[in-house]
Amino acid sequence: MKIEILNQKLFDTSADAKIVFVINKNLDHVWVHDKASLELLGFKAENEESIFIPESKTLYVGCDSLESEDIRLGACNAYEALKKTTVRSVAIGTYSNDCPGINIKALAEGFTLGSYTFDLYKTKKEPSKLETIYICLEDYARVDLSVETATKAVKVGQIIAESTNFAKEIVNTIPNDMTPIALANIAQTLTSIPNVTCKIMDETFLKEQGMNAFLAVNRASVHPPRLIHLSYTPANPKKRFVYVGKGLTYDSGGLSLKPSEHMVTMKADKSGGAAVMSILKGAAEMELPYEIHAIIGATENMIGGNAYKPDDVLIAKNGKTIEVRNTDAEGRLVLADCLCYAQELKPDLLVDMATLTGACVVALGEYTTGIMGHNSELKHSMRKAADKSGELSGVLPFNKYLKKLLKSNVADMSNISSSRYGGAITAGLFLDNFIEEEHKDKWLHLDIAGPAYLEKAWGYNQAGATGAGVRMNLYWLIEENKK
Ligand code: BES
Ligand code: ZN
Ligand code: ZN
Repeated sequence: MKIEILNQKLFDTSADAKIVFVINKNLDHVWVHDKASLELLGFKAENEESIFIPESKTLYVGCDSLESEDIRLGACNAYEALKKTTVRSVAIGTYSNDCPGINIKALAEGFTLGSYTFDLYKTKKEPSKLETIYICLEDYARVDLSVETATKAVKVGQIIAESTNFAKEIVNTIPNDMTPIALANIAQTLTSIPNVTCKIMDETFLKEQGMNAFLAVNRASVHPPRLIHLSYTPANPKKRFVYVGKGLTYDSGGLSLKPSEHMVTMKADKSGGAAVMSILKGAAEMELPYEIHAIIGATENMIGGNAYKPDDVLIAKNGKTIEVRNTDAEGRLVLADCLCYAQELKPDLLVDMATLTGACVVALGEYTTGIMGHNSELKHSMRKAADKSGELSGVLPFNKYLKKLLKSNVADMSNISSSRYGGAITAGLFLDNFIEEEHKDKWLHLDIAGPAYLEKAWGYNQAGATGAGVRMNLYWLIEENKK
């Protein structure tokens, strides 16, 4: 699907059909040519309501406001309505609010996010016939926009949404196909983007590096582990940002086996890894002036005679010892070693992303990412970037009493808390044991266990993988670049 800017009035285009957003239920706007028919049909222009009037070949879509998030939803709803038709090209005007260009970006994001379908395993694929969306430079509020601003906004919006869709495709792919080696092969394909390189490390490297916590999780899997290290190095970067992702291509729970109803969807336990890869892809395509690294610990967590066990004691890369009391708390073990590896790069910002705990879903609900860390300003800036991107997030507070719950009688720490409460935070505090003093204030932990994978669609998120965390981080990078 192409999105093109046309320096033309909406009603002068020759596209097959037109899209008109009815903003805030206002049927008196000049673009609404079918007021009588719409009233006759009982069209209320509620958010997510749409109706196609064949005579004027116009799709009317209810849209609550000119806020970017409502524009994204409107675009996604328009796409949904048109994809079942034979319309090949469609034209839409622009909907500026006080920030010029921002809603052109939102339109491009909404259309592109809405166009994603996962049909890899369907024998009958039903591709949409919609080929081109023309954005006409005629504005709802009569704002003047240059072709350059508009074209750039579309490009950025498309990159952000396509990076998100890229993560969705990886996460939706089944564990037998998306093994650690397959994930590494996908990472390798990103080297076609200028200034992107990729290193892939196997067990030999993990052993040399003393990444025994990571290796323990992999032990009972028939698929060997991979440490994936993608780098984007533009000329004269302003700063160095490092992203670390949990890449569990399957989490059965290990010997602390998950009950069957909790095991389904655990192909999504690689969502953090998919997200960090996609952030690097998006940042490189936008040619942001930062050195960016994406580090993914890719493995399965399985059962077998050689599986790691509750009661084992593991020695992580930084020499700290961990008593295993639950093999289902495996993500933190993989991340512990990967965070040690990541800090050797001396990052200015260190973000880890993981579907780490069911407790985070209990705390914040299914739609919301948990943000944790020691630096209030940094946490707040990520919260704000998430809001702008349309992703939901909330800060979960660390405290020293919860940290004490990770004490072990036999090792430096236990891999689970002794209390059943506050599990998202204690998991974050477990990771804190692997963050060096100099990086404490540069670190953020994002628990995406809730929003990464949906049993039921909401907003412009289809059922299945959502690419959670990609948009908020790309928005964070864009905001950082404005400083
Ligand atoms: N991958 C899971 C967390 C998860 C749960 C992700 C639900 C997505 C949806 C993680 O490895 C896990 O199993 N965590 C345990 C930790 C517990 C043993 C302390 C959990 O949340 O139950
Ligand atoms: Zn687990
Ligand atoms: Zn897991």
